[in-house]
Amino acid sequence: MSRSPSPINLFDFEAIAKERLPKAEYDYIAGGATDEISVERNRRAYESWALRPRVLRDVSALDLSTTVLGTRVSLPVLIAPCGGHKRAHPDGELATYRAAAACGTILAVSANSTTSFEELAKAARGHLWLQLYPFREREMTKEWLTRAKEAGYDAVCVTLDSQWPPKRERNIRNNYRRSRGVNYPKDGAQTPRPAGRAGEGSDPAATWKDLEWIKSAADLPIVAKGIMTGEDVELCADAGADAVIVSNHGGRHLDNTLATIEVLSEAVAAGKGKMEILLDGGIRRGADVVKALALGARAVFIGRPLFWGLAVDGEQGVIRVLNILREEIEITMAKCGRPTVASIDSTVVVKAPRL
Ligand SMILES: Cc1cc2nc3c(=O)[nH]c(=O)nc-3n(C[C@H](O)[C@H](O)[C@H](O)COP(=O)(O)O)c2cc1C
Repeated sequence: MSRSPSPINLFDFEAIAKERLPKAEYDYIAGGATDEISVERNRRAYESWALRPRVLRDVSALDLSTTVLGTRVSLPVLIAPCGGHKRAHPDGELATYRAAAACGTILAVSANSTTSFEELAKAARGHLWLQLYPFREREMTKEWLTRAKEAGYDAVCVTLDSQWPPKRERNIRNNYRRSRGVNYPKDGAQTPRPAGRAGEGSDPAATWKDLEWIKSAADLPIVAKGIMTGEDVELCADAGADAVIVSNHGGRHLDNTLATIEVLSEAVAAGKGKMEILLDGGIRRGADVVKALALGARAVFIGRPLFWGLAVDGEQGVIRVLNILREEIEITMAKCGRPTVASIDSTVVVKAPRL
């Protein structure tokens, strides 16, 4: 081992994970679509908002807890649905879920999970969401919705930005092949998929009717993921979604979009308070979380950092990633004079003039 595992921030975690993971796996996780402009922009855009410190507001007792769709979380950071946690650690999703439960937050389990939905549910006493796509096969969707409900999942996250496969050049150069998750039927209707058509089993022909159908078929709250415009937020509300995740899939599907933090205000305005608006993309610092909350997000998600935590130290690594974010959120809240999540309002941030 060429570097001691004492990361003090999420960038250190990534650097150590990069040394430990096979190059093709690191590239798959870290990379994005074409020029990775959106990957970079998701990060850099947080710099375009500055914090407004406030003093003498009694910040002796900080409370980072909030609720997301009625579930209490002990910090406003959830774990985004990401396929194949075992690519970073043999314990995979089991380790991530135990870490999420230990830290009092929610794990959204990917359609491409490398652990069965049911086995995962038994691994800890926490909160799980199931992520799926508008699949071609409604029978399989119904079966997954039933499995989620019976296993005690709290919500269903429908990823809407993956109807067409992206161009990820790192993966092409590495000749990277990934296998599908273990929850798909072994020899069911999902295989074989038409060559060169939609990725991930998401139906390229899907429309808003399909989201309405998922809502009607699910006996759980529905979270629409992958929304980047006010127009689509309104359509999510019309389709009956209970929450929206403002997301560009971490810049992994369509390149050249704005950063998620840049479109958050548009999404919040379009939601008109009818739905909870969540956000992911580029969250690496506690200050990023506070800025997102100030701009109207109910809570945020981390994607790639969960893999860096797993690669460094499995369950303990993910716990450390979440605790680092917690410590940084605490510092930011205290110094902005905001002792509770509810007290984080739009006056915490100001658009920073370009230097
Ligand atoms: C390796 C990897 C796998 C992912 N798999 C999925 C997935 O199966 N379903 C999904 O909705 N999003 C998936 N995502 C996207 C994440 O849910 C999330 O939108 C994104 O990672 C957030 O950006 P961040 O990585 O900068 O935090 C994946 C992301 C990564 C990095």
